Amino acid sequence: MSEINLTIDGRQVKAEPGMTVLEVARREGIDIPTLCHHEKLEAFGGCRLCMVEVESRGRTSYAVSCLYPVAPDIAVRTRSEKVDKIRKLLVEELMAHAPDAPELVTLAREYGADRNRFAREASFCVLCGLCVRYCDEVKKKNAVSFFDNGAVRQIKFVPEVAKNECWNCQECFAICPTSYAQAAYLLTEALAFPGQHQSVKRATKAAARKRVVIPIAPVPMTA
Ligand code: SF4
Ligand code: FES
Repeated sequence: MSEINLTIDGRQVKAEPGMTVLEVARREGIDIPTLCHHEKLEAFGGCRLCMVEVESRGRTSYAVSCLYPVAPDIAVRTRSEKVDKIRKLLVEELMAHAPDAPELVTLAREYGADRNRFAREASFCVLCGLCVRYCDEVKKKNAVSFFDNGAVRQIKFVPEVAKNECWNCQECFAICPTSYAQAAYLLTEALAFPGQHQSVKRATKAAARKRVVIPIAPVPMTA
């Protein structure tokens, strides 16, 4: 199939059919913020921070670029007044859950977001699903999953699986934007299989390689 021509921020670019707008933008060095995207994982479309403005046949719409496939002659704008407004609001909503997450703090600065705009629901997890999907798609272990729906949706480690698989892996700690995956695991370990693998030391080392660790909050769990 032939190449697709489109513009991103006024720049003429070429793309292969099937590529997403985010993939093409990144290849071109054009920055689009993401929170739930990981190059090893299927696109998820959860955080919506990668929202862009797309003009096609005279119509303007807004689309999450990590899911939006390139199409001939579309004009993509990665920044506009409305895009920035949407991102600002999204960051403010996410900061109600994880006000000190480094990526959110950086985005708040960029988009002028007010971390106190919404009442705090400091769950520390922003439900980006990176830990859950990484454990499923890359590690094929499903040691951490989503539980419940709506406002009570949360991630939890499955003690029976975590007990055997996580102590020697912990790769999700490094990709979690809020450090909650690490906190949830350590609590699972402490409650469900105390002292068995002593991964606190390993976790501390892993955390030292990261930028910031958010204080561990109580994690509701079923053992
Ligand atoms: S624990 Fe971290 S990686 Fe997992 S869903 Fe929550 S914020 Fe995302
Ligand atoms: S990166 Fe596209 S929705 Fe999260």
